[in-house]
Amino acid sequence: MFSSIPVLSGRTKATRKMVHKHGKSTALSCNAGSRCSLSAIIWSLAAWILLIHAYNTLTPSNSNRVESQVQQYRLSMYREHEDIEDRGFEVKQRGKKFVSPSGKQRGRRHTPIDDFLDVTSQRRSLYFPEKNLAVNPLKTEDSRKYYFYPGREWRDTESRPIQAHGGGIIYVEETQTFYWYGENKDGRSYRMHRKGTARVDIIGVNCYSSKDLWTWKNEGIVLPGEKVNKTHDLHVSNVLERPKVIYNNHTKQYVMWMHIDNANYSKASVGVAVSSSPTAPFQYLGSKQPHGFDSRDMTIFKDDNGQAYIVYSSEDNSELHIGQLTEDYKDVTKVMRRALVGEHREAPAVFKHRGLYYMITSGCTGWAPNTALAHSAESMLGPWETLGNPCMGGNEDFRRTTFFAQGTFVLPLPGMPDTFIFMADRWSPAELRDSRYVWLPLTMDGPADEPLEDDFEFPIWSRVSIYWHKQWKLPEGWNSPLPNQSS
Ligand code: DGJ
Repeated sequence: MFSSIPVLSGRTKATRKMVHKHGKSTALSCNAGSRCSLSAIIWSLAAWILLIHAYNTLTPSNSNRVESQVQQYRLSMYREHEDIEDRGFEVKQRGKKFVSPSGKQRGRRHTPIDDFLDVTSQRRSLYFPEKNLAVNPLKTEDSRKYYFYPGREWRDTESRPIQAHGGGIIYVEETQTFYWYGENKDGRSYRMHRKGTARVDIIGVNCYSSKDLWTWKNEGIVLPGEKVNKTHDLHVSNVLERPKVIYNNHTKQYVMWMHIDNANYSKASVGVAVSSSPTAPFQYLGSKQPHGFDSRDMTIFKDDNGQAYIVYSSEDNSELHIGQLTEDYKDVTKVMRRALVGEHREAPAVFKHRGLYYMITSGCTGWAPNTALAHSAESMLGPWETLGNPCMGGNEDFRRTTFFAQGTFVLPLPGMPDTFIFMADRWSPAELRDSRYVWLPLTMDGPADEPLEDDFEFPIWSRVSIYWHKQWKLPEGWNSPLPNQSS
Protein backbone atom coordinates (compact mmCIF):
# COMPACT_ATOMS: atom_id res chain seq x y z
CA MET A 1 0.00 0.00 0.00
CA PHE A 2 2.69 2.34 0.92
CA SER A 3 5.63 3.60 -0.73
CA SER A 4 -5.62 34.15 34.24
CA ILE A 5 -8.79 35.71 32.75
CA PRO A 6 -10.21 34.01 29.84
CA VAL A 7 -11.24 36.32 27.05
CA LEU A 8 -11.55 34.25 23.95
CA SER A 9 -15.18 33.93 23.13
CA GLY A 10 -16.54 31.61 20.57
CA ARG A 11 -19.28 33.80 19.19
CA THR A 12 -20.50 31.80 16.28
CA LYS A 13 -23.28 31.21 13.86
CA ALA A 14 -23.59 27.66 15.12
CA THR A 15 -25.36 28.39 18.35
CA ARG A 16 -27.53 26.35 20.62
CA LYS A 17 -30.95 27.79 21.27
CA MET A 18 -31.78 28.65 24.83
CA VAL A 19 -35.26 27.46 25.61
CA HIS A 20 -37.22 30.47 26.72
CA LYS A 21 -40.54 29.70 28.25
CA HIS A 22 -43.13 32.44 28.58
CA GLY A 23 -45.02 31.22 31.60
CA LYS A 24 -48.73 32.03 31.69
CA SER A 25 -50.44 32.45 35.04
CA THR A 26 -52.75 29.58 35.71
CA ALA A 27 -55.78 30.40 37.87
CA LEU A 28 -56.86 27.70 40.28
CA SER A 29 -60.54 27.84 40.83
CA CYS A 30 -61.98 26.09 43.85
CA ASN A 31 -64.86 26.43 46.21
CA ALA A 32 -64.64 27.36 49.86
CA GLY A 33 -64.89 23.74 51.03
CA SER A 34 -61.90 22.56 49.05
CA ARG A 35 -59.67 25.56 49.97
CA CYS A 36 -58.48 23.99 53.19
CA SER A 37 -57.44 20.66 51.72
CA LEU A 38 -55.81 22.47 48.78
CA SER A 39 -53.63 24.56 51.10
CA ALA A 40 -52.72 21.40 53.05
CA ILE A 41 -51.56 19.78 49.80
CA ILE A 42 -49.54 22.86 48.81
CA TRP A 43 -47.87 23.02 52.23
CA SER A 44 -46.94 19.36 52.25
CA LEU A 45 -45.60 19.65 48.70
CA ALA A 46 -43.48 22.61 49.79
CA ALA A 47 -42.22 20.62 52.79
CA TRP A 48 -41.23 17.75 50.50
CA ILE A 49 -39.39 20.08 48.13
CA LEU A 50 -37.52 21.62 51.06
CA LEU A 51 -36.60 18.17 52.40
CA ILE A 52 -35.33 16.98 49.01
CA HIS A 53 -33.35 20.19 48.57
CA ALA A 54 -31.78 19.84 52.04
CA TYR A 55 -30.88 16.22 51.30
CA ASN A 56 -29.25 17.15 47.98
CA THR A 57 -27.30 19.96 49.57
CA LEU A 58 -26.03 17.89 52.47
CA THR A 59 -25.21 14.78 50.44
CA PRO A 60 -23.64 15.91 47.17
CA SER A 61 -23.86 13.44 44.34
CA ASN A 62 -20.79 11.62 43.14
CA SER A 63 -20.54 13.73 40.02
CA ASN A 64 -20.86 16.94 42.05
CA ARG A 65 -18.08 15.76 44.34
CA VAL A 66 -15.77 14.93 41.45
CA GLU A 67 -16.60 18.27 39.84
CA SER A 68 -15.75 20.22 42.98
CA GLN A 69 -12.52 18.29 43.51
CA VAL A 70 -11.53 19.05 39.95
CA GLN A 71 -12.32 22.73 40.59
CA GLN A 72 -10.07 22.65 43.66
CA TYR A 73 -7.28 21.10 41.61
CA ARG A 74 -7.58 23.71 38.93
CA LEU A 75 -7.58 26.51 41.45
CA SER A 76 -4.43 25.20 43.04
CA MET A 77 -2.89 25.07 39.58
CA TYR A 78 -3.57 28.76 39.18
CA ARG A 79 -2.07 29.48 42.58
CA GLU A 80 1.17 28.27 41.12
CA HIS A 81 1.24 31.24 38.77
CA GLU A 82 4.34 33.16 39.58
CA ASP A 83 5.59 36.18 37.72
CA ILE A 84 3.09 35.68 34.95
CA GLU A 85 4.69 38.58 33.17
CA ASP A 86 8.38 38.95 32.55
CA ARG A 87 8.79 42.60 31.60
CA GLY A 88 12.23 41.86 30.25
CA PHE A 89 10.60 40.18 27.33
CA GLU A 90 9.13 43.36 25.94
CA VAL A 91 10.98 44.37 22.82
CA LYS A 92 11.96 47.97 23.47
CA GLN A 93 13.53 48.48 20.05
CA ARG A 94 10.20 47.99 18.33
CA GLY A 95 10.05 50.43 15.44
CA LYS A 96 13.83 50.76 15.11
CA LYS A 97 15.02 50.42 11.51
CA PHE A 98 15.67 46.77 10.77
CA VAL A 99 18.71 45.86 8.70
CA SER A 100 18.65 42.28 7.48
CA PRO A 101 21.99 40.50 7.12
CA SER A 102 21.66 40.81 3.31
CA GLY A 103 20.88 44.50 3.73
CA LYS A 104 17.87 44.06 1.44
CA GLN A 105 15.02 44.77 3.84
CA ARG A 106 16.26 48.17 4.96
CA GLY A 107 12.95 50.01 5.14
CA ARG A 108 11.30 47.44 7.40
CA ARG A 109 10.72 48.03 11.09
CA HIS A 110 12.32 45.83 13.71
CA THR A 111 9.84 43.35 15.17
CA PRO A 112 9.91 41.19 18.30
CA ILE A 113 10.39 38.20 16.01
CA ASP A 114 13.55 39.72 14.50
CA ASP A 115 14.83 40.11 18.03
CA PHE A 116 13.89 36.53 18.87
CA LEU A 117 15.63 35.12 15.79
CA ASP A 118 18.76 37.24 16.21
CA VAL A 119 21.32 34.88 17.79
CA THR A 120 23.60 37.79 18.57
CA SER A 121 20.85 39.64 20.44
CA GLN A 122 21.87 40.54 23.98
CA ARG A 123 18.43 39.45 24.97
CA ARG A 124 18.84 35.94 23.60
CA SER A 125 18.79 34.45 27.11
CA LEU A 126 15.29 35.78 27.68
CA TYR A 127 14.01 33.49 24.96
CA PHE A 128 16.54 30.71 25.48
CA PRO A 129 17.51 30.81 29.16
CA GLU A 130 21.08 29.73 29.95
CA LYS A 131 21.76 26.07 30.42
CA ASN A 132 22.60 26.50 34.10
CA LEU A 133 18.87 27.19 34.60
CA ALA A 134 17.91 23.85 33.02
CA VAL A 135 15.12 21.87 34.64
CA ASN A 136 16.93 18.80 35.85
CA PRO A 137 14.97 16.27 37.91
CA LEU A 138 18.23 14.89 39.32
CA LYS A 139 19.43 18.20 40.66
CA THR A 140 16.24 19.92 41.72
CA GLU A 141 15.75 20.73 45.37
CA ASP A 142 12.46 19.47 46.80
CA SER A 143 10.72 22.86 46.88
CA ARG A 144 11.36 23.38 43.13
CA LYS A 145 10.33 19.89 42.08
CA TYR A 146 7.56 19.42 39.50
CA TYR A 147 7.74 23.03 38.34
CA PHE A 148 7.49 23.58 34.59
CA TYR A 149 9.59 26.47 33.29
CA PRO A 150 8.47 27.08 29.70
CA GLY A 151 11.48 27.87 27.51
CA ARG A 152 14.18 26.51 29.82
CA GLU A 153 16.23 23.53 28.78
CA TRP A 154 14.63 20.36 30.14
CA ARG A 155 16.73 17.34 31.11
CA ASP A 156 15.84 13.66 31.35
CA THR A 157 16.66 11.24 34.17
CA GLU A 158 20.20 10.94 32.87
CA SER A 159 20.69 14.70 32.95
CA ARG A 160 20.63 14.96 29.14
CA PRO A 161 18.53 17.58 27.32
CA ILE A 162 15.23 16.03 26.21
CA GLN A 163 15.12 15.57 22.44
CA ALA A 164 11.43 15.14 21.55
CA HIS A 165 10.58 18.05 19.26
CA GLY A 166 7.35 18.41 17.29
CA GLY A 167 6.10 15.61 19.52
CA GLY A 168 3.02 14.18 21.13
CA ILE A 169 2.11 12.10 24.16
CA ILE A 170 0.16 8.89 24.63
CA TYR A 171 -1.14 7.77 28.04
CA VAL A 172 -1.21 4.04 28.78
CA GLU A 173 -3.87 3.58 31.41
CA GLU A 174 -2.94 0.05 32.58
CA THR A 175 0.51 1.15 33.63
CA GLN A 176 -0.46 4.78 34.28
CA THR A 177 2.50 5.85 32.20
CA PHE A 178 2.89 8.66 29.69
CA TYR A 179 5.05 8.19 26.58
CA TRP A 180 6.39 11.25 24.81
CA TYR A 181 7.47 10.78 21.18
CA GLY A 182 9.29 13.46 19.25
CA GLU A 183 12.02 14.35 16.80
CA ASN A 184 15.56 13.76 17.96
CA LYS A 185 17.32 16.86 16.61
CA ASP A 186 20.59 16.32 18.42
CA GLY A 187 22.75 16.87 15.32
CA ARG A 188 24.35 19.71 13.43
CA SER A 189 21.97 22.40 12.12
CA TYR A 190 22.72 23.58 8.60
CA ARG A 191 21.09 24.92 5.43
CA MET A 192 21.30 23.13 2.10
CA HIS A 193 21.73 26.54 0.44
CA ARG A 194 21.75 30.15 1.58
CA LYS A 195 18.00 30.63 1.26
CA GLY A 196 17.05 27.13 2.38
CA THR A 197 15.34 26.34 5.66
CA ALA A 198 17.48 25.19 8.58
CA ARG A 199 17.58 21.42 9.07
CA VAL A 200 19.12 18.57 11.01
CA ASP A 201 19.66 15.19 9.36
CA ILE A 202 17.17 12.55 10.46
CA ILE A 203 18.35 10.88 13.65
CA GLY A 204 15.02 9.30 14.50
CA VAL A 205 12.00 9.39 16.76
CA ASN A 206 12.79 9.38 20.47
CA CYS A 207 10.53 7.99 23.17
CA TYR A 208 10.51 9.10 26.82
CA SER A 209 8.37 7.66 29.63
CA SER A 210 7.02 9.33 32.75
CA LYS A 211 4.44 8.88 35.50
CA ASP A 212 4.27 12.53 36.49
CA LEU A 213 4.86 14.39 33.20
CA TRP A 214 7.91 16.07 34.73
CA THR A 215 10.47 13.30 35.23
CA TRP A 216 11.22 11.76 31.85
CA LYS A 217 13.23 8.59 31.28
CA ASN A 218 14.81 8.20 27.86
CA GLU A 219 13.54 4.95 26.31
CA GLY A 220 15.78 5.48 23.27
CA ILE A 221 15.23 5.93 19.55
CA VAL A 222 12.18 3.84 18.62
CA LEU A 223 12.39 4.67 14.91
CA PRO A 224 15.94 5.39 13.73
CA GLY A 225 17.06 7.23 10.61
CA GLU A 226 18.54 5.13 7.80
CA LYS A 227 22.25 5.73 7.26
CA VAL A 228 22.99 3.62 4.16
CA ASN A 229 20.04 3.25 1.78
CA LYS A 230 19.65 6.61 0.06
CA THR A 231 16.29 5.64 -1.44
CA HIS A 232 14.75 4.96 1.98
CA ASP A 233 12.22 7.52 3.29
CA LEU A 234 14.12 7.67 6.55
CA HIS A 235 17.51 8.24 4.95
CA VAL A 236 19.35 10.81 7.05
CA SER A 237 19.24 13.35 4.20
CA ASN A 238 15.42 13.48 4.32
CA VAL A 239 12.94 15.04 6.74
CA LEU A 240 10.95 13.31 9.50
CA GLU A 241 8.74 15.65 11.53
CA ARG A 242 5.87 15.73 14.02
CA PRO A 243 5.59 12.01 14.90
CA LYS A 244 2.39 11.08 16.77
CA VAL A 245 1.35 7.71 18.21
CA ILE A 246 -2.06 6.19 18.97
CA TYR A 247 -2.99 2.73 20.23
CA ASN A 248 -5.24 0.38 18.28
CA ASN A 249 -7.40 -1.68 20.69
CA HIS A 250 -8.20 -4.32 18.06
CA THR A 251 -4.76 -4.98 16.60
CA LYS A 252 -3.06 -4.18 19.94
CA GLN A 253 -0.50 -2.15 18.05
CA TYR A 254 0.93 1.29 18.67
CA VAL A 255 0.66 3.15 15.37
CA MET A 256 2.92 6.09 14.58
CA TRP A 257 2.20 8.64 11.85
CA MET A 258 4.69 11.29 10.83
CA HIS A 259 5.45 13.90 8.17
CA ILE A 260 7.94 12.42 5.68
CA ASP A 261 9.67 14.69 3.21
CA ASN A 262 12.82 15.24 1.24
CA ALA A 263 15.22 18.02 2.03
CA ASN A 264 13.38 20.59 -0.10
CA TYR A 265 9.95 19.59 1.24
CA SER A 266 8.61 18.55 -2.18
CA LYS A 267 7.82 14.91 -1.32
CA ALA A 268 5.15 16.13 1.14
CA SER A 269 3.99 12.72 2.39
CA VAL A 270 2.98 10.87 5.53
CA GLY A 271 4.76 7.81 6.91
CA VAL A 272 3.41 5.05 9.14
CA ALA A 273 5.18 2.72 11.57
CA VAL A 274 3.87 0.14 14.07
CA SER A 275 5.03 -1.53 17.26
CA SER A 276 3.57 -4.00 19.74
CA SER A 277 4.91 -2.00 22.69
CA PRO A 278 5.24 1.73 23.30
CA THR A 279 8.99 1.49 23.75
CA ALA A 280 9.98 -1.32 21.37
CA PRO A 281 11.40 -0.45 17.94
CA PHE A 282 8.69 0.57 15.47
CA GLN A 283 8.52 -1.16 12.11
CA TYR A 284 8.37 1.38 9.29
CA LEU A 285 5.64 0.52 6.75
CA GLY A 286 6.17 3.24 4.13
CA SER A 287 4.86 6.61 3.05
CA LYS A 288 2.25 8.07 0.71
CA GLN A 289 0.47 11.28 -0.18
CA PRO A 290 -2.87 10.83 1.59
CA HIS A 291 -5.87 11.03 -0.74
CA GLY A 292 -3.36 11.88 -3.47
CA PHE A 293 -2.63 15.31 -1.94
CA ASP A 294 0.55 16.94 -0.68
CA SER A 295 0.77 16.64 3.09
CA ARG A 296 3.17 18.53 5.36
CA ASP A 297 2.51 19.37 9.03
CA MET A 298 0.13 16.76 10.40
CA THR A 299 -1.34 15.13 13.46
CA ILE A 300 -3.57 12.18 14.23
CA PHE A 301 -6.46 12.03 16.66
CA LYS A 302 -8.22 9.03 18.18
CA ASP A 303 -11.85 9.66 19.11
CA ASP A 304 -13.61 8.09 22.14
CA ASN A 305 -15.34 5.57 19.87
CA GLY A 306 -12.02 4.37 18.45
CA GLN A 307 -12.38 6.14 15.10
CA ALA A 308 -9.07 7.79 14.23
CA TYR A 309 -8.37 10.77 11.98
CA ILE A 310 -5.46 12.43 10.28
CA VAL A 311 -5.25 16.20 9.91
CA TYR A 312 -2.67 17.56 7.49
CA SER A 313 -1.74 20.84 5.80
CA SER A 314 -2.27 20.52 2.08
CA GLU A 315 -2.51 22.41 -1.23
CA ASP A 316 0.80 24.12 -0.43
CA ASN A 317 -0.25 24.64 3.18
CA SER A 318 -3.22 26.75 2.13
CA GLU A 319 -5.79 24.47 3.78
CA LEU A 320 -6.17 21.52 6.12
CA HIS A 321 -7.45 18.10 5.10
CA ILE A 322 -9.12 15.85 7.64
CA GLY A 323 -9.46 12.19 6.82
CA GLN A 324 -10.62 9.06 8.59
CA LEU A 325 -8.09 6.30 9.18
CA THR A 326 -8.84 2.66 8.46
CA GLU A 327 -9.77 0.37 11.35
CA ASP A 328 -6.18 -0.75 11.81
CA TYR A 329 -5.00 2.90 11.70
CA LYS A 330 -2.40 2.01 9.08
CA ASP A 331 -3.95 3.85 6.15
CA VAL A 332 -6.45 6.53 5.25
CA THR A 333 -9.95 5.73 4.01
CA LYS A 334 -11.53 7.61 1.14
CA VAL A 335 -13.34 9.92 3.55
CA MET A 336 -11.69 13.34 3.50
CA ARG A 337 -12.94 16.87 4.09
CA ARG A 338 -11.25 20.23 3.59
CA ALA A 339 -11.08 22.71 6.45
CA LEU A 340 -9.91 26.29 6.95
CA VAL A 341 -9.59 26.64 3.19
CA GLY A 342 -7.34 29.53 2.20
CA GLU A 343 -6.36 30.20 5.82
CA HIS A 344 -2.78 28.86 5.56
CA ARG A 345 -2.58 27.02 8.87
CA GLU A 346 -0.19 24.31 10.06
CA ALA A 347 0.96 22.52 13.23
CA PRO A 348 -2.54 21.19 14.01
CA ALA A 349 -3.19 19.88 17.54
CA VAL A 350 -6.64 18.38 18.16
CA PHE A 351 -8.53 17.68 21.38
CA LYS A 352 -12.08 16.94 22.44
CA HIS A 353 -14.07 18.56 25.20
CA ARG A 354 -17.65 17.85 26.24
CA GLY A 355 -18.46 16.22 22.93
CA LEU A 356 -17.03 19.00 20.75
CA TYR A 357 -13.78 19.05 18.80
CA TYR A 358 -11.13 21.73 19.13
CA MET A 359 -7.92 22.39 17.29
CA ILE A 360 -5.02 24.78 17.80
CA THR A 361 -3.06 25.73 14.68
CA SER A 362 -0.21 28.04 13.77
CA GLY A 363 0.42 30.19 10.74
CA CYS A 364 3.00 29.15 8.15
CA THR A 365 6.26 31.04 8.77
CA GLY A 366 8.91 28.30 8.80
CA TRP A 367 10.66 28.10 12.17
CA ALA A 368 9.63 31.64 13.12
CA PRO A 369 6.81 31.99 15.63
CA ASN A 370 3.42 33.44 14.72
CA THR A 371 -0.07 33.76 16.16
CA ALA A 372 -1.96 30.64 17.21
CA LEU A 373 -5.63 30.19 16.49
CA ALA A 374 -8.21 27.98 18.16
CA HIS A 375 -10.90 26.34 16.06
CA SER A 376 -13.86 24.17 16.88
CA ALA A 377 -16.33 21.82 15.24
CA GLU A 378 -19.23 19.58 16.15
CA SER A 379 -17.77 16.78 14.04
CA MET A 380 -14.14 15.97 13.32
CA LEU A 381 -14.94 16.21 9.63
CA GLY A 382 -16.16 19.75 10.10
CA PRO A 383 -17.27 22.31 9.36
CA TRP A 384 -14.54 23.96 11.44
CA GLU A 385 -14.94 27.43 12.80
CA THR A 386 -12.18 29.79 13.90
CA LEU A 387 -12.57 31.12 17.44
CA GLY A 388 -9.51 33.36 17.79
CA ASN A 389 -6.14 33.52 19.51
CA PRO A 390 -6.24 31.40 22.69
CA CYS A 391 -2.98 32.77 24.16
CA MET A 392 -3.46 34.77 27.35
CA GLY A 393 -1.29 36.69 29.78
CA GLY A 394 2.34 37.62 29.34
CA ASN A 395 2.50 40.67 27.11
CA GLU A 396 1.33 41.40 23.59
CA ASP A 397 4.53 40.06 22.04
CA PHE A 398 3.89 36.80 23.86
CA ARG A 399 0.30 36.50 22.86
CA ARG A 400 0.98 37.34 19.23
CA THR A 401 3.74 34.75 18.90
CA THR A 402 2.26 31.78 20.80
CA PHE A 403 4.80 32.64 23.52
CA PHE A 404 7.53 32.55 20.84
CA ALA A 405 6.62 28.96 20.08
CA GLN A 406 4.54 26.73 17.81
CA GLY A 407 2.00 24.19 19.02
CA THR A 408 2.47 20.49 18.54
CA PHE A 409 0.00 18.65 20.81
CA VAL A 410 -2.74 19.11 23.38
CA LEU A 411 -2.68 16.57 26.19
CA PRO A 412 -5.87 15.92 28.18
CA LEU A 413 -5.02 15.46 31.86
CA PRO A 414 -6.42 12.15 33.06
CA GLY A 415 -8.98 12.72 35.82
CA MET A 416 -9.26 16.49 35.19
CA PRO A 417 -11.99 16.89 32.59
CA ASP A 418 -11.59 20.60 31.76
CA THR A 419 -7.82 20.77 31.89
CA PHE A 420 -5.24 20.14 29.23
CA ILE A 421 -1.57 20.81 28.65
CA PHE A 422 -0.71 22.74 25.52
CA MET A 423 2.64 21.52 24.22
CA ALA A 424 4.64 23.76 21.92
CA ASP A 425 8.15 24.06 20.50
CA ARG A 426 10.22 27.21 20.78
CA TRP A 427 12.34 26.58 17.72
CA SER A 428 15.92 27.72 17.53
CA PRO A 429 16.64 27.58 13.78
CA ALA A 430 20.30 28.46 14.32
CA GLU A 431 20.71 25.44 16.58
CA LEU A 432 17.64 23.24 16.26
CA ARG A 433 18.83 20.79 18.90
CA ASP A 434 18.56 23.62 21.42
CA SER A 435 14.89 24.27 20.61
CA ARG A 436 12.95 24.49 23.85
CA TYR A 437 9.60 23.20 25.08
CA VAL A 438 6.79 25.50 26.08
CA TRP A 439 4.18 23.58 28.04
CA LEU A 440 1.31 25.56 29.48
CA PRO A 441 -2.10 24.84 31.02
CA LEU A 442 -4.93 25.01 28.53
CA THR A 443 -8.31 25.46 30.11
CA MET A 444 -11.82 25.26 28.84
CA ASP A 445 -14.09 27.70 30.58
CA GLY A 446 -17.57 27.38 29.30
CA PRO A 447 -20.02 28.42 28.16
CA ALA A 448 -18.18 30.65 25.76
CA ASP A 449 -20.14 33.83 26.02
CA GLU A 450 -23.10 35.77 27.27
CA PRO A 451 -26.31 35.07 25.41
CA LEU A 452 -26.42 36.91 22.11
CA GLU A 453 -28.31 40.13 22.62
CA ASP A 454 -31.66 39.72 20.88
CA ASP A 455 -32.35 36.10 20.39
CA PHE A 456 -31.45 34.21 23.54
CA GLU A 457 -28.85 32.16 21.74
CA PHE A 458 -25.66 30.85 23.30
CA PRO A 459 -22.58 29.79 21.39
CA ILE A 460 -22.00 26.12 21.99
CA TRP A 461 -18.21 26.37 22.27
CA SER A 462 -16.25 26.76 25.45
CA ARG A 463 -13.58 29.41 25.76
CA VAL A 464 -10.13 28.05 24.99
CA SER A 465 -7.44 29.75 27.08
CA ILE A 466 -3.73 29.09 27.19
CA TYR A 467 -2.17 31.14 29.96
CA TRP A 468 1.42 32.26 30.05
CA HIS A 469 3.32 31.27 33.17
CA LYS A 470 6.96 31.82 33.83
CA GLN A 471 6.69 28.81 36.07
CA TRP A 472 3.83 26.58 37.09
CA LYS A 473 3.11 23.12 38.33
CA LEU A 474 0.32 20.63 38.38
CA PRO A 475 -1.63 20.42 41.64
CA GLU A 476 -0.23 17.94 44.10
CA GLY A 477 -1.74 14.49 43.78
CA TRP A 478 -3.30 15.27 40.39
CA ASN A 479 -2.14 11.90 39.09
CA SER A 480 -3.39 9.79 41.98
CA PRO A 481 -6.99 8.58 41.74
CA LEU A 482 -9.58 10.88 43.28
CA PRO A 483 -10.85 9.37 46.56
CA ASN A 484 -14.36 8.67 45.27
CA GLN A 485 -13.03 7.20 42.03
CA SER A 486 -11.26 4.37 43.79
CA SER A 487 -14.30 3.44 45.85
C1 DGJ B 1 7.09 24.71 10.30
C2 DGJ B 1 6.65 23.35 10.65
O1 DGJ B 1 5.61 23.43 11.58
C3 DGJ B 1 7.82 22.56 11.24
O2 DGJ B 1 7.38 21.30 11.61
C4 DGJ B 1 8.89 22.53 10.21
O3 DGJ B 1 8.41 21.86 9.07
C5 DGJ B 1 9.29 23.93 9.82
N1 DGJ B 1 8.14 24.65 9.34
C6 DGJ B 1 10.36 23.93 8.76
O4 DGJ B 1 10.65 25.22 8.33
